[in-house]
Amino acid sequence: MMRIAILTSGGDAPGMNACIRAVVRTALHRGCEVYGVHKGYQGLINGDIEELTSKSVGDIMQRGGTILHSARCENFKTEEGRQLAYANIKKFKIEGLIAIGGDGTFRGAKHIAKYGLKTVGIPATIDNDIACTDYAIGFDTAVNTVLDAVNKIRDTASSHERTYIVEVMGRNAGYIALTAGLAGGAEAILIPELEYDLDQVCDTVRDAHEKGKSHCIILVAEGLLGDPIVGAAGSDGSAFRVGRHILENTGFETRITILGHIQRGGNPSAQDRILATLFGAKAVEVLLSGESSKVIGIKDNRIKVFDIGEGLAMKKTIDMTQYELAKILSST
Ligand code: F6P
Repeated sequence: MMRIAILTSGGDAPGMNACIRAVVRTALHRGCEVYGVHKGYQGLINGDIEELTSKSVGDIMQRGGTILHSARCENFKTEEGRQLAYANIKKFKIEGLIAIGGDGTFRGAKHIAKYGLKTVGIPATIDNDIACTDYAIGFDTAVNTVLDAVNKIRDTASSHERTYIVEVMGRNAGYIALTAGLAGGAEAILIPELEYDLDQVCDTVRDAHEKGKSHCIILVAEGLLGDPIVGAAGSDGSAFRVGRHILENTGFETRITILGHIQRGGNPSAQDRILATLFGAKAVEVLLSGESSKVIGIKDNRIKVFDIGEGLAMKKTIDMTQYELAKILSST
């Protein structure tokens, strides 16, 4: 019998709860005991740990957020913090840890594995910026949330014949902007991974007007101009700067919408629930097989297991076919 701990760390993502449920119930089914760590790695340091039963994870798979709460933990980046966490791991006789989150979460799991604890990481971030997986838990739901907002913005944009700049999350990545832009028929998509020319964006807006389009939607990734965290008080984000340039150079009526943290909430989509469930069950199997320092992913529709170090070193690239297609379809 193995004693497994589970935590969620970093920005929460819809589907984390479905993943927790899958881990707990798969582990119980395989005769393990499961412990939930509250508030990510900070909970390991504080000993904020409790046993989870099948009932603890009932009625959660449809809920956004994470029942275990999440945190970004600076203390865990220090040796001192990790020593404290390890003392609690020993106290609770934990042999394996499943850490759900993004790159930072995996770096934490890699470090703590050095103390002899078996660890497995599960990718969950709306940013989808994890290279060892085509999809991270939460991305699909976030894209659908953005699409819902874009559809609504389009109604008012066409009524007033305006140009709308819609800023979406993604930290330094543009996957949400690109996917929602393609699915939502945006006139332009601006992401940090690709060169952009704001004068060209102005031409696109003028062109749209000349073609008689009643509105223009421009999707901008929050990290386009190396911004501070979106929604932080006092920030003058990407969307405002892009919007200002368009207004000053075209004179067309322009409005800005920053979607912000609404993108992290909501009920997970079917795709995110299934992905979370498959990842959770696989992570338990990996721990039970005696492996450690691994991360799960999905590539070409197959669940894969990578060494955490290998996973962290991989590079993810933008799908240029999607980007070019979005451009052609909105400008023709
Ligand atoms: O990593 C997910 C994410 O939502 C990013 O898209 C965003 O930049 C960041 O987290 C915001 O973090 P916080 O909620 O800590 O402000």
